[in-house]
Amino acid sequence: MKHTYLLAGLAAGLAPGIAAADELNLICSADIVICELLVERFEEGHDIDVNMVRLSSGEAYAKLRAEARNPQTDLWWAGSGDPHLQAANDKLTHPYESARLSELHDWAVTQAENAEYRTVGVYSGALGWGYNTEILAAKGIEPPKCWADLTDPSLKGEIQIADPNSSGTAYTALATLVQLMGEDEAFAYLAELGANVSQYTKSGSAPVKAAARGETGIGIVFMHDAVAQADEGFPIEVVAPCEGTGYEVGSMSIIDGAYNLEAAKTFYDWALSAEAQNLMPEARSFQLPSNRAAVASEKAPALEDIKLIDYDFAEYGKTDVRQRLLDRWSKEIGAAF
Ligand code: G6P
Repeated sequence: MKHTYLLAGLAAGLAPGIAAADELNLICSADIVICELLVERFEEGHDIDVNMVRLSSGEAYAKLRAEARNPQTDLWWAGSGDPHLQAANDKLTHPYESARLSELHDWAVTQAENAEYRTVGVYSGALGWGYNTEILAAKGIEPPKCWADLTDPSLKGEIQIADPNSSGTAYTALATLVQLMGEDEAFAYLAELGANVSQYTKSGSAPVKAAARGETGIGIVFMHDAVAQADEGFPIEVVAPCEGTGYEVGSMSIIDGAYNLEAAKTFYDWALSAEAQNLMPEARSFQLPSNRAAVASEKAPALEDIKLIDYDFAEYGKTDVRQRLLDRWSKEIGAAF
């Protein structure tokens, strides 16, 4: 290792004998503000330089798959759990049982067990939408309370949701509707919904940011992303759909063949700590933390107050299931747009 440090030190222009810091190549699939805050605080406490790139969950999965023979990434933090489970199924990620597993909520440990410890839960949050109260009031539109309301013709052009190929949020929505309605009914519903959609965005939270800025009436997103916009002072109201809804177990995975494996484990252990998870509200990230000792923000939508489906993570994180649903979405919904 000394040898590596010395070479890295020379490359970085350091005097021979002075060791350069370790490195960590990180993909972050949550909001850029929390990504940057975590990296900053981690670097303050560790002699590890983090190179971070923000990618949506589906994009991150695609990148890891593309570079499987020559991994460029060490650790993937955040993003919804299904693509992490798919990566685990494909053995693109590395089994690791952190000593902190015993500090976590059951749902976070179940996520790890479902993946033979190739991933773990870092936060959770339910799916819903945010609407711009001023736009809907100005147009005389009744605020939608249920999935069924979103196909009303009065909402034509007023809805944004992400593309499930790139976005884990939108895949959670797709899998949620399939579990709520049955697959054929869900695709019929999505086709009707498509008539009201003005844009399928790349990132999952973009739709409610657009609603906050008045570019669209409604953004289908994780509820905590809608709360973040309301908390910034935008006229956004947050809705939990009346029929019931799905939720995510935001996850973290070490990449199989990671060049900086020890640095990845160091970040992984730290990211599971209450100390790290307590940073989230500072970045207006209002998910529920997976460490039992971390304090959820009082602004975080409480899962007990939301009608949740029994989301089958193991099933919808399977490679063939996820790929088949995405292909069907692209053919029937994306191509028809
Ligand atoms: C936002 C949410 C996260 C979620 C992520 C998924 O950042 O706050 O809770 O995991 O979106 O991103 P994606 O762009 O893949 O939908």
